[in-house]
Amino acid sequence: MILALETSCDDTAAALVSPRGELLADVVSSQAAHSAYGGVVPELAARHHLERIGEVIGEALRQAGGALEDVELVAVTRGPGLIGALLVGLATAKALAAARRLPLAAVDHLQGHVAANFLGPEPFEPPFVCLLASGGHTLLGRVDDHDGYRTLGATLDDAAGEAIDKGARLLGLGYPGGPELERLAAQGDPEAFSFPIAERVPGLDFSFAGVKTSLLYRVRDLGERVAGERRADLAAGYQRAVVEALARRAERALEQTGLDRLALGGGVAANGVLRERLATLGATVHVPRPGLCTDNAAMIGSAARFVPALPFPDYLGLDAYATGQRPQCTASPAAISGVEGASTGARARPAR
Ligand code: KG4
Ligand code: ZN
Repeated sequence: MILALETSCDDTAAALVSPRGELLADVVSSQAAHSAYGGVVPELAARHHLERIGEVIGEALRQAGGALEDVELVAVTRGPGLIGALLVGLATAKALAAARRLPLAAVDHLQGHVAANFLGPEPFEPPFVCLLASGGHTLLGRVDDHDGYRTLGATLDDAAGEAIDKGARLLGLGYPGGPELERLAAQGDPEAFSFPIAERVPGLDFSFAGVKTSLLYRVRDLGERVAGERRADLAAGYQRAVVEALARRAERALEQTGLDRLALGGGVAANGVLRERLATLGATVHVPRPGLCTDNAAMIGSAARFVPALPFPDYLGLDAYATGQRPQCTASPAAISGVEGASTGARARPAR
């Protein structure tokens, strides 16, 4: 079986996956410590990974009813993400693999989100368009094979989840803001306030800076008291704008590629309003279960099945990368810089 580790941000995760993509164990330890700071603190994240990784791997082995001796391949996220956090997973993976002279598969985190769709019992097979929307990245990819994707568009500024978290914060909600914003929005009228959808952004790229600024001004103009009373309406309008931006670009991607299959990934895929909206596009939509949309190691194990594994000792000098994408991904420069900005700068700030 494949032992997979994921430590790119604030979730310490280990999973065991069979070579056929069956999930044997899936353990995620989320770090609550960051909520007090309104965002992920990189140094805290790395320290927590270090404290928890051994325990999380042990729990995964227990769940699968196996032992380290049963592991035939070690897989790990190499990037993009927080460098200190990534290094904990990478060093642990190298040590576990080297101790038994096992091969190691280094996996790109975004490819992992795509590969969550390939897990059993009902894998979603290419070709399809994949919409990845999380706190660190937002992109549309064309997936023709199991081992990569072509970036069709990406955010030029904030990631969708980041915009949601920042909006939630403006409305006085806790971090991460997505689930709370969705709950509050359910009590509001999405028509009461309108927010911009960045329709002028060309092609299949996204921009969420405008909607965020617009909420900031709206709250300021209404004044604290009225904004407080209208919080649910503001949340509903804001959520609708983010959802519309994602759905309209996804629709355009389906039209442009001629594909009629859409897969989702990333924490924002948990949003019920987004899922309902995407269901209206007329495509076959595949959404992995919530725990496989947010950061997890099962998706890394799934991706590892299609990545060339490095034999011992070739991986010992392998470095993590904070930004950028695997060379196989033929992304436009704008798309890459969008992903880079979203996955590092935003996350490196203690408070969002
Ligand atoms: O994939 P993820 O767990 O972590 C990374 O950022 O990689 O995604 C977390 C993001 C956060 O921004 C969170 O607010 C958002 O996903 N999110 C949601 C919902 N649940 C989580 N956004 C909207 N609606 C939700 N129900
Ligand atoms: Zn992620």
